[in-house]
Amino acid sequence: MKVLFATSEIAPWVKTGGLGDVAGALPQALRQAGCDVRVLVPYYPALHAAFPAAKHVAHLSNLGGQLPVADLLEATSPDGLPLWLVDCPALFDRPGNPYLGPEGIDWLDNPLRFGLLSRVAAYLSGAGSSLDWRPDVLHCHDWQTGLAPYYLRFYEDDGAATVLTIHNLAFQGVFPFTVMGELGLSATDWHIDGVEYYGYLSFLKAGLRHADALTTVSPTYAREIQTAAEGMGLQGLLKNRAGELTGILNGIDTAIWNPAHDSHLAATYDRTHLKGKAANKSALQREVGLAVRTDCPLFGVVSRLTSQKGLDLVAVAGDMLAELPAQLVVLGNGDKTLEAAFLELAVRYPGNVAVTIGFNEALAHRIEAGADIFLMPSRFEPCGLNQMYSLAYGTPPLVRATGGLADTVVNYSVAGLANGTANGFVFTETTVETLLGTARWAVEIWRDPARWGRLQQNAMAGDYSWKNPARRYLDLYRSLQPAA
Ligand code: ADP
Ligand code: GLC
Repeated sequence: MKVLFATSEIAPWVKTGGLGDVAGALPQALRQAGCDVRVLVPYYPALHAAFPAAKHVAHLSNLGGQLPVADLLEATSPDGLPLWLVDCPALFDRPGNPYLGPEGIDWLDNPLRFGLLSRVAAYLSGAGSSLDWRPDVLHCHDWQTGLAPYYLRFYEDDGAATVLTIHNLAFQGVFPFTVMGELGLSATDWHIDGVEYYGYLSFLKAGLRHADALTTVSPTYAREIQTAAEGMGLQGLLKNRAGELTGILNGIDTAIWNPAHDSHLAATYDRTHLKGKAANKSALQREVGLAVRTDCPLFGVVSRLTSQKGLDLVAVAGDMLAELPAQLVVLGNGDKTLEAAFLELAVRYPGNVAVTIGFNEALAHRIEAGADIFLMPSRFEPCGLNQMYSLAYGTPPLVRATGGLADTVVNYSVAGLANGTANGFVFTETTVETLLGTARWAVEIWRDPARWGRLQQNAMAGDYSWKNPARRYLDLYRSLQPAA
């Protein structure tokens, strides 16, 4: 089975969130399951730095509209994964992250940038490709490659089967009609079964309408997005395609996120030797400037700061949390109002609240290991990886019951503790009072070492690896192949 995996991010080189992690790990797991996978990704500066000697494999021109010429380069990751890099310096050789400039503003030419990525993915998956290697399946991710199934269906012949995975329906790649020409799309594409979406062009909608199969990253989110409450305007289309939509829970990269072999930690530990966790707590407290205390629990947050993540509740609950007493460590960036609210909280509670604004991979690992309880009160969460990292690190998560959080975290109960299922704390209502009530309850359990130790054991016993999810993707790919 040959699979082209088209993505706008790939860890460890280019990552703004979970999509980067998924693209860094799932292709490897698919390879281990016997699949021939190549990852198609723009040749951003970070990839240029990592693979300066990438080999030229094709020159891509005449892609339509004002899509610029590009070169396709090939490199192999240190663990053997083939990467196909779309080299177009005018579009991809810039500072900032894949979507935003250094000032935090979307690049104005994002439709052209990800239009090119989508168009190249389609070209390489159709009969017209000049390369010998052609995929059986083109696997796209989010709006950034959402146009690829459309281009493949209407602008190429004899295309591969297509799968589009929804990582987050909140981002839809919506642009004005005026970009149609640049993208090589014509007025005949402008209709409800084409690329038009309420008077705009939507990359994601075009993909959702035309990919052969749709997946999203948890079973609960797959159901939620078919409702008006969570469908972000696309619920009708998703409901219509319910037969082709499946929820496959993400895994985590257990080579990177494993407390037994994590080089970022002050001390490694595992399920049978949890002692090292205490050393991580005190090292973390020192690192971020918290008082080194063992008499109260430390809550941890690692997140994009956006309304999705419900962290405005934590910012408001912060005073009450600090007075419980409990400590709080936050790492995140995003919404400026939320950044300011957390920074003010840290000023009010020196020694008990520590806030780092920024993106810091190493500190993220140390918070997962050093905190006692991981906070993730998301309003919606397609899957969520951080709660799985914290489960694997023996840091029971406290989450809101939504999407992948509902599929991975089982609320504390006496029976659940005993039968091995309970692994964290779950609340339902998005209010400060419920969050605080649940936090108080978690603190009470934390004060009982026997019950807490059992909860940690349950959390760490789970299998969060990519093994099973990779098998499910492979089954899906197989189901899309014509019968022999
Ligand atoms: P999302 O993709 O919605 O942001 P996930 O939980 O799926 O949420 O994945 C987030 C990923 O990004 C995790 O690997 C998390 O550790 C990482 N991350 C988010 N914010 C930061 C940050 N400020 N510093 C370091 N890593 C971060
Ligand atoms: C998105 C979602 C997150 C998910 C990640 C990877 O960014 O917000 O819940 O875990 O994609 O699939």
